[in-house]
Amino acid sequence: ASIPQLLMDEVQPALTTSGGKVTVVGVGQVGMACAFSLVTQHICSELALVDVAADKLRGEMMDLQHGLTFLRNVKIEANTDYSVSAGSRLCIVTAGARQREGESRLSLVQRNVDIFKGIIPNLVKYSPNCILLVVSNPVDILTYVAWKLSGLPKNRVIGSGTNLDSSRFRFHLSQKLNVAPSSCHGWIIGEHGDSSVPVWSGVNVAGVRLRDLNPLVGTPEDPDKYNEMHNDVVNSAYEIIKLKGYTSWAIGLSVSALVASILKNIRSCHAVSVAVQGYQDIDKDVFLSLPVVLGENGVTHIIKQTLTQAEIDQLKKSADTLWDVQAGIQF
Ligand code: NAI
Ligand code: 2OP
Repeated sequence: ASIPQLLMDEVQPALTTSGGKVTVVGVGQVGMACAFSLVTQHICSELALVDVAADKLRGEMMDLQHGLTFLRNVKIEANTDYSVSAGSRLCIVTAGARQREGESRLSLVQRNVDIFKGIIPNLVKYSPNCILLVVSNPVDILTYVAWKLSGLPKNRVIGSGTNLDSSRFRFHLSQKLNVAPSSCHGWIIGEHGDSSVPVWSGVNVAGVRLRDLNPLVGTPEDPDKYNEMHNDVVNSAYEIIKLKGYTSWAIGLSVSALVASILKNIRSCHAVSVAVQGYQDIDKDVFLSLPVVLGENGVTHIIKQTLTQAEIDQLKKSADTLWDVQAGIQF
């Protein structure tokens, strides 16, 4: 008899899947920050990694597996073949080119669309009921592209969007007010990146709106210069890329919060990239971030934020910019 037979009596065969499987495509800086965040916070029970770089992929898989003694027993697999992703409830796409110093996210578009053509149909082939969570940039446009390529309903195709920008904004508020970021409430919506929209009309701590305390808050006329916080948010990625070459930890944490809300049906609200035509007067078929409720079946509700006309106008401008870029994409 073999050692397992001598050690244990089988009562019934173990199931091969647990229902909490997540695939991460792209094991670069962002993909691995997502993976690390997911396993250390016990958000998924199975993790599949996919990349075209076979050695790097195997190295990252082994390195994570060797830490499993200190975690819960997540099943971690990796392969260049998409069959490894089969049965995923959620697939995160982080593969593709990233910005070089000074380069904008939008300049990556056609390179990453071409990469997505090889990725999205394969994910859907092996996990036809999955939820797609797009992180690669430009994330809003690539979420639209993923939706088109996948044939999935809109509620199952989500971009990580301005969940990260909102977190950056709340950090800056926390520094200014000396109140924890989780208690500083503020939303950045619209494009993830250069034309994002800060919803100053709603920024509050414990329900006290800063705009009621200072009607100029967030405007260029404000002597306290709170508006610089949004400039800092927009410049964050450019600055971090200049300093360390890429951004990773905050996006990894932000993505894992989205995944937790979906897999555990937490139904928390996040600003993520969704199909926005018909919302806030937007008439273009684009994906942009608005606050939504996330649950087991993806986006279940879009929050109808009370925005000022100026905020709606900025959002529509964001939509127009993306629409123009989208029109030039070769599928
Ligand atoms: P990276 O260069 O470190 O990693 C990219 C990975 O994609 C590499 O491992 C590469 O082998 C893989 N890859 C390339 N083509 C592939 C294909 N056809 N199939 C599978 N894998 C493929 O880049 P990094 O820093 O991880 O960034 C990845 C993407 O995430 C970039 O587009 C970047 O702009 C974006 N990003 C998005 C953020 C957001 O908030 N949405 C935040 C930070 C980065
Ligand atoms: C970020 O904002 C580069 O989109 C990436 O960190």
